[in-house]
Amino acid sequence: MPALEVSNLVKKYKAFEAVKGISFDVKEKEIFALVGPNGAGKSTTLKIISTILSPTGGSVKIFDIDISKNPQAARKIISYLPEEAGAYKNLTGAEYLEFMASIFIEDSGRAKASAGYGAEMSGLKDKLREKIGSYSKGMTRKLLLSRTIMTKPRLAILDEPASGLDIVNAFEIRRTIKQLAGDGMSFLISSHNMMEIEFLSDRIGIINAGKMLAADSLENLKKRAGANDLEDVFIKLTQS
Ligand SMILES: Nc1ncnc2c1ncn2[C@@H]1O[C@H](COP(=O)(O)OP(=O)(O)OP(=O)(O)O)[C@@H](O)[C@H]1O
Ligand SMILES: [Mg+2]
Repeated sequence: MPALEVSNLVKKYKAFEAVKGISFDVKEKEIFALVGPNGAGKSTTLKIISTILSPTGGSVKIFDIDISKNPQAARKIISYLPEEAGAYKNLTGAEYLEFMASIFIEDSGRAKASAGYGAEMSGLKDKLREKIGSYSKGMTRKLLLSRTIMTKPRLAILDEPASGLDIVNAFEIRRTIKQLAGDGMSFLISSHNMMEIEFLSDRIGIINAGKMLAADSLENLKKRAGANDLEDVFIKLTQS
């Protein structure tokens, strides 16, 4: 059973069709990356899969759960990091993680353990006792990413996970994602960072103007496009 199965997904914003019949799947334990120009429809696709937006057409199944028919069940096994997310500025980082864990997990002992895991993963250490309002952009991003992962979702949906992070922090986050995938978590991410995608992804979906141009491993994409690297594949496929 795939972690995610997207079939003929369509999304219209009024008359404008942002997603034009996209199909792809993500296998269990796989890291699948969506890459495409600005406005291609990546965030729209991720929002639909995360049950934030409803589709105009098509279907999405997460571990065989149809998200239109049973969004509640789907929400229990996914976690979503939006492209532009904020966190409650008046809470400390630690309070925020505990609060979010208590929403997702009923058992208070398990919720606390989950928040503790998130705190450790964030690498924010003493800063966790400071208010989020005082955090830098990258610190907030790390906190939010930890929040997304700490509940151990079966499918994590990350919209530009490392955006705004410095080299060391971005490296750490990629290493964490890779480790979690090794432990059995499945990932759907979007990114503009070609190096990040090459490092992380098992397969890559190239999306342009609401359509999926190709979805394959880096090796196969390079062969197919006669390209040297992902950037070259991207330029060849999106400019032709
Ligand atoms: N709420 C909205 N109302 C109307 N149009 C929207 C809305 N959200 C997105 N769009 C349009 O849908 C298209 C796809 O947007 P989307 O945010 O999915 O792109 P993206 O691939 O994530 O781009 P980026 O790389 O810049 O994040 C764009 O043309 C955008 O203007
Ligand atoms: Mg986007």
